[in-house]
Amino acid sequence: MINRLSHVELAVTDLDAAKRFYCEALGFLTSTESDRALWLRAPDEFDVWSLKLTLDHEPGLLAFGFRVDREDSLDALAALHHSLALPLRWLAAGEEPGRGRMLRVRAPGGHVVNFEHAIDEVSMRGPNGPHLPMRHTHRRGGVAPTRLDHVNVRVADLEAALGYWQGALAFAASEIQVDADGHTQRAWLRRAPFSHDIAVGRGRTAGFHHVAYAMRDSGALIGAADLLSDAGWAVIEYGPGRHGITDAQFLYIRDPDGNRIELYAGDYVRDLDRPPLTWTIDEYQSRGLLWWGQAPPVSFLDAGAVLDRALVSPAPDMEEVVSP
Ligand SMILES: [Fe+2]
Repeated sequence: MINRLSHVELAVTDLDAAKRFYCEALGFLTSTESDRALWLRAPDEFDVWSLKLTLDHEPGLLAFGFRVDREDSLDALAALHHSLALPLRWLAAGEEPGRGRMLRVRAPGGHVVNFEHAIDEVSMRGPNGPHLPMRHTHRRGGVAPTRLDHVNVRVADLEAALGYWQGALAFAASEIQVDADGHTQRAWLRRAPFSHDIAVGRGRTAGFHHVAYAMRDSGALIGAADLLSDAGWAVIEYGPGRHGITDAQFLYIRDPDGNRIELYAGDYVRDLDRPPLTWTIDEYQSRGLLWWGQAPPVSFLDAGAVLDRALVSPAPDMEEVVSP
């Protein structure tokens, strides 16, 4: 029913500063803009936007969303969420630019999750015929990530969250990390056959750790570190290095508001019916988090105020169920 992660919405406190960073430094392309929000895509993406930046009083994660396989899968998901007694509401077609109707729910743990099917794609015909979105390298600037890859969040009740993501929504775990008693502490979950669409970890409260955009390869990842530093953007928090879990090379950066973005190169394709690879806490600490590279800074392990933003908005308007 669910295909893949399709968008993320972050709160920013200064849209002009955010646009300079995301469009000039990172090389995102603007799909739509208003005086309250920017809708952006990475240069290789088919969907017209995957990242919404919304002006707000503090930064953080506002929502993330998934594309489903059919329009009527949205109705099935609404019925499912009713049966789970989870808050939901409908957004009408066009309420988000380039999107059909959208089902917005509050997942166990507090994160706002959208489901959508109809997403406009960029034009793929030029004067000489078919023309894929990634074949505009001559117009690119900045870091130029390729596409949205995953989101990484924390929840206080991981068992409830895994019951939702794996049990109700049929996400498959590619890898898990367990404690000494065998209880899962972190899970990398997917509907697409890559390592994960969403990583969920146990936290003191619900929260947001990072959103990841893929880079074409490790050379592009190192090139991103060069470009950001050459341009005077002192935004690198951690990396480059390689995670043992997911096999991905990483560079973590912070946007002007402190939202954490992972530039991500690597991972793998593996069928969803395969059992998860299990890492013990010792294995996670010795090789899982970091296969090679420097140890993470304290800031990476404790993201501070940004962590709790997901619970704030737009949850208050979600108790009422509105027909599409
Ligand atoms: Fe990540």
